[in-house]
Amino acid sequence: MTGWTAADVPDQHGRTVVVTGATSGLGAETTRVLAGAGATVIMACRDPDKARAAANGIAGAIEVRRLDLADLASVRAFAAGLDRDVDVLINNAGVMAVPRGATADGFERHLGVNHLGPFALTGLLADRVRDRVVTVASGLHVLGRVRDDVNWERRRYQRWLAYAQSKLANLLFAFELQRRLAGAGRRTVSVAAHPGVAATEGQRRDTSLQGKLLAGGPAQSPEMGALPILYAATAPDVQGGVCIGPDGFLQRRGHPAVVGTSLRSRDADRAAWLWKRSEQLTGVRYAIQPPGDVR
Ligand SMILES: NC(=O)c1ccc[n+]([C@@H]2O[C@H](COP(=O)([O-])OP(=O)(O)OC[C@H]3O[C@@H](n4cnc5c(N)ncnc54)[C@H](OP(=O)(O)O)[C@@H]3O)[C@@H](O)[C@H]2O)c1
Repeated sequence: MTGWTAADVPDQHGRTVVVTGATSGLGAETTRVLAGAGATVIMACRDPDKARAAANGIAGAIEVRRLDLADLASVRAFAAGLDRDVDVLINNAGVMAVPRGATADGFERHLGVNHLGPFALTGLLADRVRDRVVTVASGLHVLGRVRDDVNWERRRYQRWLAYAQSKLANLLFAFELQRRLAGAGRRTVSVAAHPGVAATEGQRRDTSLQGKLLAGGPAQSPEMGALPILYAATAPDVQGGVCIGPDGFLQRRGHPAVVGTSLRSRDADRAAWLWKRSEQLTGVRYAIQPPGDVR
């Protein structure tokens, strides 16, 4: 797949894709390419006006629906209002290294928006996604630990580590979802993706030294950053349970390839723990049963 570009996205006519966080950055670029390839794209965004403005310049079949991942009531309303099955769900929306804050349900903001919201959304749609679920993680997952104190209630808050924890949670979730789908004999697969470092609003927002060291450096364009997401969402040969990222130095830039992730991200026991905790916190129980001997 070396050198794969947006021009290699297969024809998407007849396919429906939900893209969360489609108003800007990688989500907007993913929307533009998929709609251009013929997909019907449902932009799932917390600010419908902003989404409609973003959709204005995009040719193709676009729908805008409201989804605020920082509010489980909004996640439930989105799922209840979705009037058809979809082929692909792309869990792309995210916040990056924001100050301490809580979601409507009282979750630490990174955990809530980046992991628990998508966990609930995917669970509510689990029987209605035909082809694949793509979850957008980050190379910074390597700095993360998923602690028992997952909501940062008993430790000093550190925004980059809170972000890293949520991105490790994305990988634990994506890989556990694949084990469960395979264990249940489902055709739908779960794939992780990460963009390397891409020049988006999210990436530029933090101008601190720490931010520059962690997420700075030469960034690739949003067009390049979206390629691993597009590959994960459309390439026919993608296997469930892999992570697609840039093939260049330190996975910071390049064309899509299957990339390695940390040992912690492959810890099936921690993934099962997080899954259970996420079900408790969100109240969403998946119809898919634990994999048993498949793991
Ligand atoms: N850019 C990078 O270098 C980089 C590196 C690694 C991983 N990533 C990951 O890539 C994904 C996309 O990030 P980006 O760089 O494209 O950032 P971005 O330009 O800031 O886009 C983030 C998107 O998430 C949406 N969002 C934020 N909070 C939300 C909420 N509560 N409910 C629904 N949507 C919400 C934003 O909506 P609004 O427009 O309403 O704010 C926006 O559409 C994230 O998961 C991020 O962690 C990015």
